[in-house]
Amino acid sequence: MKIDSFKIEDWMNRYCPEANYDLTSTCIKPLSVNELFSLENSTEIFNTSLTYGDIQGSLRLKIAIKSLYTNQGEENITITHGAIGANQLVFLALLEKGDEVVSVLPAYQQHYSIPESLGAEVKKYFLKEENNWLPDLKELEKVITRKTKLLILNNPNNPTGAVIPDDMLEKIVEIAKDNNVWILSDEVYRGLNLCGNPYSKSIADIYEKGISVGSMSKTYSLPGLRVGWIAAREDLIQEIIKHREYNTISVSILDDYFSAVALENRDKIAVRNFEIMHEGVNVLKEWLKSELYVNCVLPQGGTTVLLKYKKDIPSKILCRELLQITGTAFLPGETFEMEGYLRMGFCVGKEILTAGLSNLSEYLRTKV
Ligand SMILES: Cc1ncc(COP(=O)(O)O)c(C=O)c1O
Repeated sequence: MKIDSFKIEDWMNRYCPEANYDLTSTCIKPLSVNELFSLENSTEIFNTSLTYGDIQGSLRLKIAIKSLYTNQGEENITITHGAIGANQLVFLALLEKGDEVVSVLPAYQQHYSIPESLGAEVKKYFLKEENNWLPDLKELEKVITRKTKLLILNNPNNPTGAVIPDDMLEKIVEIAKDNNVWILSDEVYRGLNLCGNPYSKSIADIYEKGISVGSMSKTYSLPGLRVGWIAAREDLIQEIIKHREYNTISVSILDDYFSAVALENRDKIAVRNFEIMHEGVNVLKEWLKSELYVNCVLPQGGTTVLLKYKKDIPSKILCRELLQITGTAFLPGETFEMEGYLRMGFCVGKEILTAGLSNLSEYLRTKV
């Protein structure tokens, strides 16, 4: 099975280790083992044998995950190796050569490159800045047809920071329902809305053909645990489990345990994370006030934002030069099919963010 290289991963692996000011991360400062362990009163884990554990994920973890939804039981959830493992399992279970897929971009490259590699006909629907990076429902209605099998969304969105309002999500469900289309919503940033309820509605709760992918990496600041999950109706979960048995066995017993601890204490993690998020957005807003060469739609949620720069330089060249001259790393738009933009993670901490943005300003001022 041939597949395109994963451009953002390639870029980050190659350039980020050199950076003094790394603004490419999509994570909110990950928790330390000590910080995580301080949330738990028991030391029971130290007496636990490191077996494969519960093959399908522990009941404790599934109960904690279930509490993130209004309409899901344990039978609707399967535990995976991160959201990256979850997305791949959904594609393997659902797609065959020739199937039509609509993928909403910009997005995580998995959402189009894996379907393409499986032989699906992928239609890319690009979000537009003038619509605040939200889908135009009239356009979407034309793109989705009776031939479409799967619509792939990412809500909140990486890289734009857009959050689809719940009433718009309901309308997207109507379009999908009319055409009998599955919706995979990659919801790894769910719980990170900056206004109103931090949790948008989950697609799995509002649509019988809705598939929600979640993870410990972003909302719960634990990318090192490598735990994600899929919530969907039971017959699809059973189909997914068939594939899961060939590539997962189980997630590590330690990852499973610590994920449950974190989810049971998610309110405490949220307080800490929203402080970091608001601080990041405030730095961005202050910087934009005096920055002549960049504009952006402010993020409504998630951890990233797209910066539109007003200089005629290819984004990869800009990012390479900026890194060489100032040690500052942004992600070039070219790596996610958005030339002319940079992706910035705004949850990397105030000092790095302030220095990185100021370095970008300085660089852009020197360019004709
Ligand atoms: C939209 C999206 N989906 C999935 C992933 C992978 O997440 P995980 O660490 O849970 O595998 C990422 C990571 O950046 C992401 O941004």
